[in-house]
Amino acid sequence: MLQRCLDMLAPALQRPGAVVVDCTLGLGGHSEALLERFPEARLVALDRDKEALRLSGERLAPFGERATLVHAVYDELPEVLDRLGIPEVDGVLFDLGVSSMQLDEADRGFAYAQDAPLDMRMDQTTGISAAEVLNTYPPGELVRILRAYGEEKQAKRIVSAIVRERDKEPFTNSARLVELIRDALPQAAKRTGGNPAKRTFQALRIEVNRELDSVEKAIPAAVKALAVGGRVVVLSYQSLEDRIVKGVFAAGAATTAPPGLPVVPEKYQPRLKLLTRGAELPTEEEVAENRRAAPARLRGVERIRKDVR
Ligand SMILES: C[S@@+](CC[C@H](N)C(=O)[O-])C[C@H]1O[C@@H](n2cnc3c(N)ncnc32)[C@H](O)[C@@H]1O
Repeated sequence: MLQRCLDMLAPALQRPGAVVVDCTLGLGGHSEALLERFPEARLVALDRDKEALRLSGERLAPFGERATLVHAVYDELPEVLDRLGIPEVDGVLFDLGVSSMQLDEADRGFAYAQDAPLDMRMDQTTGISAAEVLNTYPPGELVRILRAYGEEKQAKRIVSAIVRERDKEPFTNSARLVELIRDALPQAAKRTGGNPAKRTFQALRIEVNRELDSVEKAIPAAVKALAVGGRVVVLSYQSLEDRIVKGVFAAGAATTAPPGLPVVPEKYQPRLKLLTRGAELPTEEEVAENRRAAPARLRGVERIRKDVR
């Protein structure tokens, strides 16, 4: 869906000196494509993962000063722009979730298919690991997380097993958790939805990285940073993130006028225009090429008015 993201950002990024922010640099594929497609634009790119910054730094080195890479969480976008002396931006891209590099590097602990330390922190310099969540959270909190972030219907069953096992010996590695989930689930629940550990792993990852809190803060911050005519484009990979994005965009695209006004004054007019009808989905060819793209949802908005102070 990269092409579609670039096309959606294009009208905002043609002018010399346009600033585009890639909030999820990862391995730098999208950033590289932005720098190539918009030769007049300057890129600021953020990632919380130092290894991602190191690798993409090498990849983007040929672009010299056009690319500024920053180690930050994307909800720090306002502070990052402040530090760089950038008052407003023309485009912002989010490609949410984990990168293939994070999934493929077994020792990061994101993948349930390989045995690895239960870490799952995207930024390994800070925060608590998935093992600490499993070993220390009260059972009720674990059930809430599995239900809310993993949409796991068998949360209670899984958490009872976790609590029983962690009392014997704390969790350190993923294989023990995968096995425990497999044993805890009834046969019927194992027949659908792929690997039975998938939902629990997603839930732990979201909790460890406070992913939804971050998205909840970052999307409004990105919208706020936009110049008039500027655009925000978001690719999300699970319904909880997409729901937050949809809500922020829809609120910005609606009038805030009290009902019944014959003429809507400027201060109540929508700040945003939706660029996508609903969420755009990947094509069959895109999914055939890259299985991980299957759940992707793409949404975009354009700022059409300044905020009224
Ligand atoms: C799906 S990958 C992006 C891939 C990238 N578009 C590319 O072309 O390689 C998502 C990236 O966002 C980063 N990330 C996730 N949450 C973040 C946050 N709150 N702040 C900053 N970076 C974050 C992850 O570390 C990961 O590298």
